Amino acid sequence: MARERAIAPHSGYPVGAAVLTESGKVYPGCNIESNAFPTTMCAERVAIFTAIASGERSFKALAVVSNDGAAPCGACRQVIYEQCGEIPIYVVRPDGHTQQEFYSSQLLPFPFDPEKS
Ligand code: THU
Repeated sequence: MARERAIAPHSGYPVGAAVLTESGKVYPGCNIESNAFPTTMCAERVAIFTAIASGERSFKALAVVSNDGAAPCGACRQVIYEQCGEIPIYVVRPDGHTQQEFYSSQLLPFPFDPEKS
């Protein structure tokens, strides 16, 4: 699982993610922390950016796995809004239990979008 590949020496908080594309492929992500803290990257964005770099542009669903079933951070919510549109986001525990389910617009009801302001 992607969460086991996390590099999280600073927080001790490994996160895994998986994004499902319209083409039926699943791209994994894990958080990758840096000694320069702000350059750390979240699991969700690693998954989405890896999919995009692999040629994907259309997404169906996103799952995020962490020890306590935390929802995506604000920065990831903006990227989900911009790159994935309105998709279901499953917040999952390591045992596979889905703790919460959201749609993109629930997580970020007032996104930054220059085309809409
Ligand atoms: N983290 C994620 O991977 N996804 C989120 O949505 C929130 C936070 C990571 C970043 C950092 O490596 C660790 O969790 C603690 O904040």
